[in-house]
Amino acid sequence: MAGNSFGQAFRISTAGESHGPGNVVIIDGCPPGIPLTVEDLQFDLDRRRPGQSRLVTQRDESDTPELLAGVFDGITTGTSIAILIRNTDQKSRDYADIKDKYRPGHADHTYDAKYGVRDYRGGGRASARETVVRVAAGVIAKKVIARAFGGHVIGYVRQVGDVIAQVDDPASITLDQVETLPDGTANIVRCPDPEAAAQMVELIETVRKEQDSVGGVSEIVATSVPAGLGEPVFDKLKADIAKALFSLPAVMGVEYGLGFACAHLRGSEANDPYYSEQGPGGRTIRTRGNHHGGMLGGISSGMPIVVRAAVKPTSSLPREQETVQRDGSPSSIRTRGRHDPCLLPRFVPIGEAMVAIVLADHYLRHRGQRGGLP
Ligand SMILES: Cc1cc2nc3c(=O)[nH]c(=O)nc-3n(C[C@H](O)[C@H](O)[C@H](O)COP(=O)(O)O)c2cc1C
Repeated sequence: MAGNSFGQAFRISTAGESHGPGNVVIIDGCPPGIPLTVEDLQFDLDRRRPGQSRLVTQRDESDTPELLAGVFDGITTGTSIAILIRNTDQKSRDYADIKDKYRPGHADHTYDAKYGVRDYRGGGRASARETVVRVAAGVIAKKVIARAFGGHVIGYVRQVGDVIAQVDDPASITLDQVETLPDGTANIVRCPDPEAAAQMVELIETVRKEQDSVGGVSEIVATSVPAGLGEPVFDKLKADIAKALFSLPAVMGVEYGLGFACAHLRGSEANDPYYSEQGPGGRTIRTRGNHHGGMLGGISSGMPIVVRAAVKPTSSLPREQETVQRDGSPSSIRTRGRHDPCLLPRFVPIGEAMVAIVLADHYLRHRGQRGGLP
């Protein structure tokens, strides 16, 4: 009922706020015998970390995870895993003057409407600070699917404002392309098209100078997913991935494959024709294109799963915006504190984590029913 847990066979439950002592995740259902160290968790946590580049919030968190349970001698034991990540760089005084005002586009008013009380510091539980522990859980989910079927999840920034990256084959994008530019420097915007990446950086810096923010789209791709994962009808893979991504703050839309562009096409154009090819384990059925985004009937087709999430511009702005006080009286607001002018670069590892968590969950559910991979 309370909405702080997600998944069935691979289940995560989180607790924590932006400016409390820390955030915690409990992961139930992780199989035993998976190698897991704090260093493994740190890689993706660093990709999400505030303060990692000039484009993101300068809140300075090391995001060092503490593995409290479920791991012994460097491997998972099969019992529940608990991970704690402490908050160390909260500046709650930045929020004191907005404690009775509602930030347009943020969750201040709706949390008050629901609970009648709210931790106003940094957005409390609505803050994306909570996603830090989801990224840690996502690392474990990535290990589960890699071991089970060689599954791999990679995300990147596809669009910022009107700048759209040219990506011909989403399934071919590598972590290296997402993290590093051809000249060897860090790809701070996480867009695999270097020309678009440069334009995105420029745009984000411009909106920041204008005391504004900008939205965009992240594309997330899961490869080597076997055909047959997903449940009818309410727990379709496409329904669960959409829920996972919509559970992230600032996500305004989710689409697969062709997505909303399917509205422009005829069936003869939209369908992906089938063919089969001989592999080492027998004939594999594949489709010539991937308009369907890797799922049909909510069940994986064996083609890469391609999903895009539209992420809104950061709502907290240093410029003045019209608002009201808690009692409804007219007011105006400028948000101090440290905010990302564009959420996309840090969204990438968070989106990847949620997709990996859904795939780990559906793999374990499938194994429970059929006792192995399709
Ligand atoms: C990685 C990430 C960082 C975020 N940082 C901020 C931020 O610094 N300031 C802000 O106002 N919103 C930020 N958000 C978005 C808010 O948390 C979100 O807009 C708010 O909780 C309202 O929820 P909604 O947009 O889903 O309706 C961030 C979101 C993500 C994914």
